[in-house]
Amino acid sequence: MMMMCSSLVLLGLIGVSASSSGSSSSSPRMKLSYKDLQQFNGIKWFDLEHSCCFGALLLDEERGRLFVGARNFLLSLSLDNISKQEQKIYWPAPVDWREECNWAGKDINTDCVNYVKVLHHYNRTHLYACGTGAFHPTCAYVEVGQKIEDHVFKIDPSMVEDGKGKSPYDPRHTSASVLIGDELYAGVATDLMGRDFTIFRSMGRRLSIRTEQHDSRWLNEPKFIAAVGVPESENPDDDKVFFFFRETAVEAQGFGKVTYSRIGQLCRNDMGGQRSLVNKWTTFLKARLVCSVPGNDGTETHFDELRDVFLLQTRDRKNPLIYTVFTTSSSVFQGSAVCLYTMNDIRRAFLGPFAHKEGPNYQWVPFQGKVPYPRPVLSPLKAGRCSCVEY
Ligand SMILES: *[C@@H]1O[C@H](CO)[C@@H](O)[C@H](O)[C@H]1NC(C)=O
Ligand SMILES: *[C@@H]1O[C@H](CO)[C@@H](O)[C@H](O)[C@H]1NC(C)=O
Repeated sequence: MMMMCSSLVLLGLIGVSASSSGSSSSSPRMKLSYKDLQQFNGIKWFDLEHSCCFGALLLDEERGRLFVGARNFLLSLSLDNISKQEQKIYWPAPVDWREECNWAGKDINTDCVNYVKVLHHYNRTHLYACGTGAFHPTCAYVEVGQKIEDHVFKIDPSMVEDGKGKSPYDPRHTSASVLIGDELYAGVATDLMGRDFTIFRSMGRRLSIRTEQHDSRWLNEPKFIAAVGVPESENPDDDKVFFFFRETAVEAQGFGKVTYSRIGQLCRNDMGGQRSLVNKWTTFLKARLVCSVPGNDGTETHFDELRDVFLLQTRDRKNPLIYTVFTTSSSVFQGSAVCLYTMNDIRRAFLGPFAHKEGPNYQWVPFQGKVPYPRPVLSPLKAGRCSCVEY
């Protein structure tokens, strides 16, 4: 009853079973080894000494560059051949932050360094980059010049700023963000302990807004995968921002710890509430993202754990195609699947009724009747209307 986006198209279903790889030419290829790749002559190798952890990639087709965030480094590689014409910026965390981090009980070499995690195009001459900064998130504007020939690649130290709510503190944490106009929308932990996960809007001229703190109906131990902006109409006031993540499902409480995948929706014109929800989102809604296949006996096999998202732009910017990769969370059956969603699937899900629960001992059901004020901001099961009108 509560399945969202169920009109998905299942593109591929890959049972991961090590023994079946490449045994016959008719079976799909399960693995591509390094040797196979070399045979295709397709390998161009890039290696950076004293670094690792290439945690952010940003393609720049106009300049023919691939920008890369790594441990203590930012790189600018040539798209033709990543082995040549490398430019790099050494961007370590300051010594006192590293010491502070070490005093807090973190490892000086693996934790207390700067892992570059966030890279976005900012304007025609600059990128915006953020790193963990030895558990002291930091961001910087990176000058890249207007044209390839400019050969600029540098950080102006006077343009380094606080990265809280933009980059994770902990290098092991995932985050997702998108820069729209001059505002950053980030799904990230905003505290040192990594407990306060939030979807946070910052930069730009408006006041920062975020999700409600420590409320499991909003976000429940989320792992953020991707964030994208999609226009809804010709009117920029209708623009939406979508977050893809997986989290512990509140609606499956009592069944142990169950992971569901989600799509969260926000309106770009959200200014936060006036009386309640001040500096909090008033348009945030989320729905379950379902990727499943029906079996012969009528039971559904669910792939509950979202791993990656790719937006394929079409001629109509309002209707990109959303390709996703999921894995199962079962230890008995392990597999992965690719699911494709259209914006119609997504929009339809968010037009459905809110999920609602009378009390701790009740089931989640669709909300009947008039939506109260303040509305149930969150509907972990099924999403309600997002009219982009402030409550
Ligand atoms: C790529 O660049 C490296 C270093 O300049 C060079 O050795 C290599 O031959 C180049 N590869 C190709 C395919 O152009
Ligand atoms: C891009 O942004 C940076 C940082 O705010 C600024 O210094 C630079 O002038 C901007 N460039 C353009 C072309 O607007």
